Amino acid sequence: MKLSKILCGALAAVMTLSLAGCGGDKKTTLVMATNAEFPPYEYREGDQIVGIDAEIAQAIADDMGLELVIEDMAFDSIVPAIQSGKADIGVAGMTVDEDKLQNVDFSIPYTTAAQVVIVTNDSPIASPADLEGKTIGVQLGTTGDNFAGEITDATVERYNKGFEAVQALGQNKIDAVIIDREPAKVFVSENDGLKILDEDYTVEDYAIAVAKDNQELLEQINTSLTKLKDSGKLQEIIDKYINAE
Ligand code: ARG
Repeated sequence: MKLSKILCGALAAVMTLSLAGCGGDKKTTLVMATNAEFPPYEYREGDQIVGIDAEIAQAIADDMGLELVIEDMAFDSIVPAIQSGKADIGVAGMTVDEDKLQNVDFSIPYTTAAQVVIVTNDSPIASPADLEGKTIGVQLGTTGDNFAGEITDATVERYNKGFEAVQALGQNKIDAVIIDREPAKVFVSENDGLKILDEDYTVEDYAIAVAKDNQELLEQINTSLTKLKDSGKLQEIIDKYINAE
């Protein structure tokens, strides 16, 4: 065999090895977009983003052998961030609905949730049916925002943070807030004179959003999520933040 040929073969072997060694351009991070204004699913504790969604995403990243990177942004920026590839997944108490399904795909659900109505203790509003013609506060771009917009003669006040809508209600600037149940419980406990109506507005599912053209990632997420469900780890994470009633 000619020397040049031997050298060439050796070189090719080294190149293959080094490529495998560096992992080529293989992804090593899983970028999660969220809006950390939504306890107990995601909120800030010091400079950390914690909560149910942060822990679920961490467990999924661990299972996939990737490093989790959390990007905090406005809630209505999450879907565009996934579409543009700025983020791989959206984990933000995201309700699976027709609206979002036009722009992203969703994993299997990881929990059920509900939209509820918050009012002041002395409010004449006793059930969701009484919301007609009222001024309703919501977090911009959420399911609550969509529902409020469908109520006859209602005026919708949109806030960047759900907590701001609840504060406005406490100051009697609006008549009610439509928001997800668990954050509602946290916000009501932090503001005097408010209550959650007994009757839920809707029941819905939360799931993880992925770009529409990323079938492979979607399947990986579903596989990891299924493992978390089967092992009981998912329920353990939820129970850590939400007291069973
Ligand atoms: N479940 C609602 C939705 O999907 C609200 C979610 C708000 N989440 C947040 N992290 N701020 O529209």
